[in-house]
Amino acid sequence: FDAVDVIRTKRDRGELTDEQIDWVIDAYTRGVVADEQMSALAMAIFLNGMEHREIFRWMKAMIASGERLNFESIVGEGKKIATSDKHSTGGVGDKITLPLAPLVAAYGVAVPQLSGRGLGHTGGTLDKLESIPGWEAKLSNERVVEILGSTGAVICAAGDGLAPADKKLYALRDVTSTVEAIPLIASSIMSKKIAEGTGSLVLDVKVGSGAFMKDEDHARKLAKIMVELGRDAGVKTTALLTDMNTPLGLTVGNACEVEEAVEVLAGGGPSDVVELTVALAREMLLSSGVDVDPAEALKDGRAMDVWRTMIADQGGDPDARLPQPKETLTVKAPSSGVLTELDAYKVGVASWRLGAGRARKEDPVQAAAGIKLHAKPGDTVAEGQPLMTLTTDTPERFERAEELLQEAFTIGGEQKNNPLIIDRIV
Ligand code: URA
Repeated sequence: FDAVDVIRTKRDRGELTDEQIDWVIDAYTRGVVADEQMSALAMAIFLNGMEHREIFRWMKAMIASGERLNFESIVGEGKKIATSDKHSTGGVGDKITLPLAPLVAAYGVAVPQLSGRGLGHTGGTLDKLESIPGWEAKLSNERVVEILGSTGAVICAAGDGLAPADKKLYALRDVTSTVEAIPLIASSIMSKKIAEGTGSLVLDVKVGSGAFMKDEDHARKLAKIMVELGRDAGVKTTALLTDMNTPLGLTVGNACEVEEAVEVLAGGGPSDVVELTVALAREMLLSSGVDVDPAEALKDGRAMDVWRTMIADQGGDPDARLPQPKETLTVKAPSSGVLTELDAYKVGVASWRLGAGRARKEDPVQAAAGIKLHAKPGDTVAEGQPLMTLTTDTPERFERAEELLQEAFTIGGEQKNNPLIIDRIV
């Protein structure tokens, strides 16, 4: 095979053969196909698309580039345990994994949640959990299997051995403006989830200003392709299409999102976070043949018990005081009326600017940086009332964050009533 031939096929709107795909992914992973050649191919795919067969083969080739975990051997109390996982395409204030993993585990379904870090305006689950003193994101594969058998839930960093072709390609797409191609996003996400070895999967595909996919048609298309890829690979996969025009919950950041997740586990917390946690738990449990109302284990403390053990299993102290910010700044309502809009993207970028996110992969994040919201769309506010509290350890960051937040909300005007859960895709 020749990389130039493969690029030309896709440039001229042809279909790549299975053999071409297997070769180009393997050769790129080994460094035989150069970055500039893969960049050209990614752009050709971005512009000309791929047929379902090509996407499936591309995904399989990326899985084959690395190790494949196997959770068939997980046994608890002498029985084989079903596994289920969730993937969110990324949002603002999306701390759902934190209460969800222990909630599902409370019903006897094990959750191997291999997570990532935030980049840009969306937060990362591992960054949030690292605000808990002592908690470690890195675990060996053997330890993951052990905790899944005992506690039932693990949230940890995906190892370097999982789909290395995707790691290399994703970094390349990031700098060649080819991230937003549906075939590339679908195969990237699903290659990691299938290599991880979960028995079933629920996808939370976000739509709106704070999401990758800004419009519903694209999000729906992405969800359908991912559900089909999962099914074709033998992993029972469903998807919820959910709104990301407004941040989830009342906190955006790291430690503050952990605090909110703990409120949900204690039976309280904001209603949108509870609604989505319970809906996703229901999907994961149904896929594993467990037909229950998952809200129960939030009320009776069983999910909290799993959370505490899960945090302690990874060296964290579930009772520790979380890091507190050095500086705070309050943004007040400039007029009275109904808050009709709170833009997720702008809130996400502001939180990032306050230090909750990173500009480059190797940057550290501030545990205590973020935004606490005191009102959500639909609430009536009075002039001078606090709308949000900004927190950071580096107060020189306030100015740019506040500037952006002043444009993030609308008081008065037309109230949009977006449902949180837009559709279920099977
Ligand atoms: N998340 C991924 O893992 N891959 C993509 O391509 C986009 C989002």
